[in-house]
Amino acid sequence: MTSPTTPLVTLTRHGDIALLSIANPPVNALSQGVVDGLAAAIDAFEADRSYKALLVHGEGRTFVAGGDINSFDDPDFTAALYNGTLARIESQDRPVAAALHGTVLGGGLELALACHHRVSVPGTRFGLPEVKLGILPGSLGTQRLPRLIGPVMALDMIQSGNPIGDAAALKAGLIDEVQSGTPLEVGLAFTQALIARDAKPSRISERTVAMEGLPADFFEQALAQAVKTKPFYPSARNIVLAVKASTLPFAQGEAEEQRLFEALRISPQSQAMRHLFFAERAASKIPGLPKTVALRPVKSIGILGAGTMGGGIAMNFANVGLPVVLVETTQAALDRGLGLIRANYEASAAKGRMTAEQVTARMALLTGSLADSALAECDLVIEAVFENLALKKQVCARLGAVCKPGAIIATNTSTLDVDVLAAATGRPADVVGMHFFSPANVMRLLEVVRGAQTAPDVLATVMQLARTIKKVAVVSGVCYGFIGNRMAEVYMRQAEFLMMEGASPAQVDGAVEALGMAMGPCRMLDMAGIDVGAKTVIEYGKAGGLPPDPSYRALVQKMFELGRFGQKTGAGYYRYEGRKAVADSETVRLAAELAAAHGIAQRAGHFGTPAGQQEIVERLLYPLINEGAKILEEGIAYRPGDIDIVWTAGYGFPDHQGGPIWMADRIGLATLAERLAHCAEVRGNAFGYWTAAKLLTDLAAQGKRLSDWAPA
Ligand SMILES: NC(=O)c1ccc[n+]([C@@H]2O[C@H](COP(=O)([O-])OP(=O)(O)OC[C@H]3O[C@@H](n4cnc5c(N)ncnc54)[C@H](O)[C@@H]3O)[C@@H](O)[C@H]2O)c1
Repeated sequence: MTSPTTPLVTLTRHGDIALLSIANPPVNALSQGVVDGLAAAIDAFEADRSYKALLVHGEGRTFVAGGDINSFDDPDFTAALYNGTLARIESQDRPVAAALHGTVLGGGLELALACHHRVSVPGTRFGLPEVKLGILPGSLGTQRLPRLIGPVMALDMIQSGNPIGDAAALKAGLIDEVQSGTPLEVGLAFTQALIARDAKPSRISERTVAMEGLPADFFEQALAQAVKTKPFYPSARNIVLAVKASTLPFAQGEAEEQRLFEALRISPQSQAMRHLFFAERAASKIPGLPKTVALRPVKSIGILGAGTMGGGIAMNFANVGLPVVLVETTQAALDRGLGLIRANYEASAAKGRMTAEQVTARMALLTGSLADSALAECDLVIEAVFENLALKKQVCARLGAVCKPGAIIATNTSTLDVDVLAAATGRPADVVGMHFFSPANVMRLLEVVRGAQTAPDVLATVMQLARTIKKVAVVSGVCYGFIGNRMAEVYMRQAEFLMMEGASPAQVDGAVEALGMAMGPCRMLDMAGIDVGAKTVIEYGKAGGLPPDPSYRALVQKMFELGRFGQKTGAGYYRYEGRKAVADSETVRLAAELAAAHGIAQRAGHFGTPAGQQEIVERLLYPLINEGAKILEEGIAYRPGDIDIVWTAGYGFPDHQGGPIWMADRIGLATLAERLAHCAEVRGNAFGYWTAAKLLTDLAAQGKRLSDWAPA
């Protein structure tokens, strides 16, 4: 018998048990409809006293995996809407159990915590990931979890947002039992046992938080730590305050959680992080590509070049169980490449991140060869040889001949013309750019470069493969540097001009690091390698891509000439003591020398002032944003959010700023256009460095946002 509930939530009789089932595929997210359904189901349960217990269960592949993030922007939204329903569940005088499986996250875990008893099947994961959206668990997660598992572990789970497995959950008392079977069978048997032993409702809200053994200033210490380590995230602070409030009477704690949640919900940081959440999902959608396009099977990978990138790329595939063959020119290069991969895995094992058996299993998936013929049977071959057009063209021609029909040929080039390389293979429809970021086994971003002739199924296959290897993929059209490096070039150009004008590397870096950039431009290039950066500039110059400006990136070329390659040689823009960057007067001297040679006026004193710092921010970021606008108007990126994903996932741009395009709208397009015009006037604009993108000035004139822009 099914009681009259909603399509998303039903109440069904199973003997003495009322089974409340949530069916909101794919992950049973807590939409308004589900919340209404829960209320209706509780009404039906309360009205029928013949039931002896209530069992809450999620249909499909998971219990409730979270709240409906879209609803956060609804002006009528308050987290408290759901709290009343949870309070009703908990207040029942007959036992309420939750049968848990899949990913019990956010509002899903908060629902489970409102139940009196919890059972899960093996493999279930539990977490409160709200911090990743810049908020806190706003439906009493910060109040019930510490009461159940103690403040130390609760704080850790809420601050990290990382889920725990069923073994840890059982040990902590987050769940009562783990039983094998289908979630429904397990839940019914568990609830039946509760009825049989006449179990009483166990309400978490009636418990107190166990503070025994903790220092009296436990929360003060946690607060100081949060403010120190996460200065850009108000959520870090508010989470500590909310968990601290769990030591108050429940109603007071609830009010405090609400207040702290609401402050975060409307904070610019959380709005930026929620924007990125949606932008990341949108990035995988390719306009004009039918969903029905059949994917090419990818069961084996070949990589040409086992250097820095080739090795890191190989690890991505081995990590998900795909076999990889690496091809090199010499046995020594091959041995070095494979040796580095092994050392990398062994370092992870030493840190307890993987087992010795896993290291062995992954290494067994990696083989090496000196012969191209080893690539003949691979479904996907990625070239990662030196960044040199003549070499890459030759390599692509060889791959075009050796790879089997239907194999995908990818290039990891950072800047070269993918269409030229595609043509060199003689089979351009099979060719795509797969631009990984260094270290390739760590960085989340993958720029997928769509050539003029890339086949739709090749593009779709690579996008799917990116998901398999846990990358966030963004499609870019063909242009110098694609989305990311094209914008980075503009940013580096300005960094160098600033240094020639007398700003120190620390002043340049400090100005953007103060906004939350993981690393300023000087530290970034010192790490990536000044040689790599300089060679790219030199190659681009040879190809006729540079402006006729003799001072263009003169500093990086000078550093390269002097063998100052950055961290790897102990000196670049900075000097290195181990990994520690220290100021180097030689950089300042070289910059001044170049400034004199190129007739650039020095204004060293100015950059230490607040106005100087603001100038650095404007000169680094405004042209970068402007280049992003050009990338949009040229159709190189499909959508504004894609650019934000590239910069936050690939270049250390702070997520709490939402990416450069999102940031542009906070600054205001009119302000941006005005400041670019100001720079053009003050600095001169002989090479078009300050010419605003038409899209930017048009939208500024219309009072519109760049983030909302879509091609006509
Ligand atoms: N290093 C980075 O930060 C980075 C980031 C993204 C993309 N990339 C791109 O990745 C590619 C490789 O860069 P890297 O940093 O790994 O360089 P690297 O010098 O570390 O490695 C290149 C490897 O290719 C091998 N090689 C050269 N010619 C070959 C051939 N004909 N056949 C087989 N192997 C050959 C070399 O022996 C060397 O081991 C370049 O196109 C580069 O632009 C580099």
